Amino acid sequence: MAQFPDGFLWGGATAANQYEGAWNVDGKGVSTADMLTGGDVDHPRHFTKTLEPNTYYPSHTGSDFYHHWEEDLDYLHQMGFKTYRLSIAWTRIFPNGDDAEPNRKGLAFYKKIFERCQEYGIEPLVTISHYEAPYHLTEAYGGWQDRRVIGFFVNYAQTLFREYRGLVHYWLTFNEINMLQSPFGAYMAGALPLADGAPLSAPVGVQAGGNQLQAQYQALHNQFVASAQAVQIGHAVDPDNMIGCMIAAGVDYPLTAKPEDTFKADMSNNMRNYFCGDVQVRGEYPAFAKRFFDENNIQLDITDADRQTLALGTVDFYSFSYYSSGVQTTTNEGEAAEANQTKTNKNPYLKYNDWGWAMDPLGLRITLDRIYGRYNIPLMVVENGLGAFDKVEADGSINDDYRIAYLQGHIAAMGDAIADGVDLIGYTTWGCIDLASAGTGQMDKRYGFVYVNRNDKQEGDYSRHPKKSFYWYKKVIASNGADL
Ligand code: BG6
Repeated sequence: MAQFPDGFLWGGATAANQYEGAWNVDGKGVSTADMLTGGDVDHPRHFTKTLEPNTYYPSHTGSDFYHHWEEDLDYLHQMGFKTYRLSIAWTRIFPNGDDAEPNRKGLAFYKKIFERCQEYGIEPLVTISHYEAPYHLTEAYGGWQDRRVIGFFVNYAQTLFREYRGLVHYWLTFNEINMLQSPFGAYMAGALPLADGAPLSAPVGVQAGGNQLQAQYQALHNQFVASAQAVQIGHAVDPDNMIGCMIAAGVDYPLTAKPEDTFKADMSNNMRNYFCGDVQVRGEYPAFAKRFFDENNIQLDITDADRQTLALGTVDFYSFSYYSSGVQTTTNEGEAAEANQTKTNKNPYLKYNDWGWAMDPLGLRITLDRIYGRYNIPLMVVENGLGAFDKVEADGSINDDYRIAYLQGHIAAMGDAIADGVDLIGYTTWGCIDLASAGTGQMDKRYGFVYVNRNDKQEGDYSRHPKKSFYWYKKVIASNGADL
């Protein structure tokens, strides 16, 4: 059994728009996430430009953490968490995004959370922007395509660094920044607008016939510049700040030994793990970007000042989410599959969850080894977990052995990667307390160690109940990963 290093940051993760609820309380503004309806594995979420009566918008209620934060932090403390990854809702701090002054009530909400974390010895790991932005920025500026949004984000980030100096030391600028390469992520992050009534997977941000990729990659570039500026400010405000990138990472395998399949899988892995990683860790676009831009007729507005900012604002660590692996092929032997907004092919050697995501612990080791091999800086796995339907037994217990098995496999794989020489510094499982799914908006797609009594029919009183996995994870943390 591999040894996890002393001080390893064990914990779990949540995101404001999926968890907090209280979407219009205490001065909070409307975010992009607040305009997305609920869906399920067969029915996509939709964007509605005006909020429709009798329609379910999962972010409006989430798991009601806003009113359960004390109880929830107490549960994390009981499990022995060393870190808790949470995001700040930009719209609680700057309701419209371009406001002159921050909303003090929003700042106060997170301050009391961080103070309680400090009492409990839990290091907060704060995502500054997790799949949401003030909707006003999308409507008034067209979102992240517009360079002015860089300044609004940097002002927001600076406000947080100053306000929470000494309380927060670990930061991530943008959640899964590489998801801007997909229409889903581009809308979620407030990068580009969606048409009224459109499903979440619809093309974003361009008039018919326009170059969608051009719009997506310009928005992504603007986020890179904003992130790099924020990194520099964060370091200037507090030299103890550790600021990371966050990428939806993983590995695609070739379906056959045909060289073209390996090449396609390599290209897919490059675009997923290294495109954004190179910009944020090395401070410049990868060599393969030029060809990608040329072939897709993308002409970015990149200034010399941008290049300098990127070079100076490199991150301290690379963090990523990992749920499953994929398969690429140029043959027609593959069977289509989809995982976490990525189109791929079925892997005959793996089992799948109820949402069609492959379960592949060894894929996590491969991902860790490859990313560390390229960058040689500390890594953190900040999302991993199993979305599943949980059953509450007659005696109230929830026996989520399938979740324990999934996490056991992935923690063992991290141990192996550490033995391979990877400098892995932390692990935060996704949705440590049940929350709404980002992809489908479902409450019934559960990831937590703690059950939240709320379902897709909008029934339930939000009461919390530890699952079997709660006691298992507590043991894992207490043994520093030795007792799985
Ligand atoms: C990640 C996101 O992509 O996947 C989370 O950062 C999301 O916000 C998680 O919740 C799991 O996806 P889903 O669709 O099951 O919620």
